[in-house]
Amino acid sequence: MKEVSVAVVGATGAVGNEMVKVLEERRFPVNELRLLASKRSVGKKISFNGNEVKVEELTEDSFKGVQISLFSAGASVSKKFAPIAAKSGCVVIDNSSAFRMEADIPLVVPEVNPHAIAQYKNRGIIANPNCSTIQMVVALKPIHDVSKIKRVVVATYQAVSGTGKKAIEELSSQTQAIFNFKDIVCNVYPHQIAFNCLPHIDVFLENGYTREEMKMYYETKKIMEDEDIEVTATCVRVPVFYGHSEAINIELEKKLTADEVRKILSNAPGVKVVDNPDNNEYPLAIYAAGRDEVFVGRIREDVSKENCIEMWVVSDNIRKGAALNAVQIAEVLLERYL
Ligand code: A2P
Repeated sequence: MKEVSVAVVGATGAVGNEMVKVLEERRFPVNELRLLASKRSVGKKISFNGNEVKVEELTEDSFKGVQISLFSAGASVSKKFAPIAAKSGCVVIDNSSAFRMEADIPLVVPEVNPHAIAQYKNRGIIANPNCSTIQMVVALKPIHDVSKIKRVVVATYQAVSGTGKKAIEELSSQTQAIFNFKDIVCNVYPHQIAFNCLPHIDVFLENGYTREEMKMYYETKKIMEDEDIEVTATCVRVPVFYGHSEAINIELEKKLTADEVRKILSNAPGVKVVDNPDNNEYPLAIYAAGRDEVFVGRIREDVSKENCIEMWVVSDNIRKGAALNAVQIAEVLLERYL
């Protein structure tokens, strides 16, 4: 593959850092890596392929000569700088929610809709979906291809790393404070996250759902290219550092047995079935952390309703849920289009 110049925007953050690691691990053909963050981080160094690369301040001139930019510095940074980057000729793969639902911007999970990457030509931007949606659609699509999914009911158990580095520190410092009989401090979340579960991710909307829950609703339809799939989600932040877990109930048009679903998922790209309850084997966040796959287990037929399947889906939210998915998009982009 030919070598390209790559920029990572938000390189000092939880996802940006992982993007650099994934580029290195997957030997993405980089001839120059530009690491961009806020003024606060200028002078910091991040190691890449054995070299220490200096972090630079993100400015309007940062993208000259860059071919692919991976953005993960929040929606407001993306809204301002992604169009500037695209205008200067590079393709932006944006991890924020800024452009995901815009009709002419592709929203891509390479195992599900890689063909949509071709639409990067519209505006020079490809959106990386929300972390909880990515792992869910990787597990849903192969089933949907065999028996159409009518409705999905999902409850998520989401790790604090999805909120960024400050949230990782908050869970850690609150846990230490509690064990040392000190007062806890809440800066990132509105309530204590240590030893607690918060049914509140992103802001509340008029319909009573949170924006995170509605992201799962809208993004699933867009990525699966099927407006008829209904989705209802309850998104919960839990005191886990890495790895989102999801309890998913799917209603199918035609019945599939649990064994059939297990077989379909065993052959699906990016999925690993871990489903051996007799040996206490099922997907766990602590084992998914640092891994690339979407792990699926506890597959069973719903006793309460015909043609419904229950399953438990776990993946590393920083990797497949963000950094890895973005780099996989970049790989397809480079191989097929640049
Ligand atoms: P910095 O470390 O300089 O603040 P996380 O999601 O883990 O909190 O990380 C957010 C990332 O986005 C960090 O790399 C952060 O850089 C970067 N970032 C936040 N605001 C800006 C900004 N206005 N300009 C450039 N980078 C930003």
